[in-house]
Amino acid sequence: MRRFALQSLLFIASLGMIASAAFAKVTETDFGKTKDGVPAKVFEVTNKNGMKVRLLSRGATLIGVDVPDRDGKLADVVFGFDDMAGYESKANGYFGCTTGRYANRIAKAKFTLDGKEYKLFANDGPNHLHGGDGESLDKVVWDGTPFEKDGVSGVEFAYTSPDGQEGYPGKQEMKVTFTLNDKNELTIDYSAKSDKPTVINLTNHAYFNLGGAGSPTINDHLLTLNADRYTPVDETLITTGKLAPVDGTPLDFRTPTAIGKRVDQLTKTSTLGYDHNFVINRGDAKQGELVEAARLVDPQSGRTLTVMTDQPGIQFYGGNFLKGDKGKGGKSYPYRSACALETQVFPDSPNKQGVEGWTDCVLRPGEEYTHTCVYAFGVEK
Ligand code: GLA
Repeated sequence: MRRFALQSLLFIASLGMIASAAFAKVTETDFGKTKDGVPAKVFEVTNKNGMKVRLLSRGATLIGVDVPDRDGKLADVVFGFDDMAGYESKANGYFGCTTGRYANRIAKAKFTLDGKEYKLFANDGPNHLHGGDGESLDKVVWDGTPFEKDGVSGVEFAYTSPDGQEGYPGKQEMKVTFTLNDKNELTIDYSAKSDKPTVINLTNHAYFNLGGAGSPTINDHLLTLNADRYTPVDETLITTGKLAPVDGTPLDFRTPTAIGKRVDQLTKTSTLGYDHNFVINRGDAKQGELVEAARLVDPQSGRTLTVMTDQPGIQFYGGNFLKGDKGKGGKSYPYRSACALETQVFPDSPNKQGVEGWTDCVLRPGEEYTHTCVYAFGVEK
């Protein structure tokens, strides 16, 4: 009798497992190997509205976001490739990756911390960009663990960057967690610890076109940036250390404005168009509190994207380096056909410690770096 009861229980339990597997919101598939032979995986997270987010363990990369338009029609609104070769090719302009250990530029590829100079790889003229060369965070394979809890689901990626990797001091343990809820909000939570003083600035480098990745332009998208000021740059795109007002410039997006309306006024400047860090108006928000930094609207499809963050800055990059290379499904990604909205500390903070109004980027042993960015998708009628 007892034996029968135990068998029935096991049977019922296994039925339960089959049922939960059938309705699991995160699936996992192989995505080939990197050129160094490291296997990578893609995780697909689905919410109850049918919104889907795809995440690649190479670079803890956001490689797909299927969201509905005003008629409920899904389109994938971020850039990416169908295979590993695409991600490892020159056509990959950091599409959707976790960027670091220091996202954005560090002047002359070096910085001094506690009196010691650290040399980094100069991969952008004389400067260091997006964490360096072959072992920047976008190129290494992270450990992905899918989760489903309390009505949300997602993937937690973990990676430990060894002391001295790409020239950065300290062994740095990092986590990047992507969480999708049923309000079509994708939250990215970053955290890191280091065993030596170091500098850090992690971000996500997704390229968005709300008409669907591969649509010809984002010039018609309306952008709002909650920023009265920006950080001007020199000829090599290094911040000058000044905070300048956007008032009266093509960088004033304090009210919804078509991206293409004034972009040509910037084409002959060093940024070649929009490629600026904005100082987010945080008002009375406390440290760690989210504020709305940006809102992007595609009037054609009605799709909207609201970016919320606890970070002080947001880089708005308008795709000036895109050249029509082919991405997912053979679609081409032309000049200025997507934009990145990268939440972060200000560029070149390692060389601007102590400059008035500038941001802190130093992580010391015993401290924890945290950063939250929410990409909230919606529709406008
Ligand atoms: C950024 C930079 C741009 C460019 C892109 C990658 O966001 O600000 O200048 O390097 O990344 O192509």
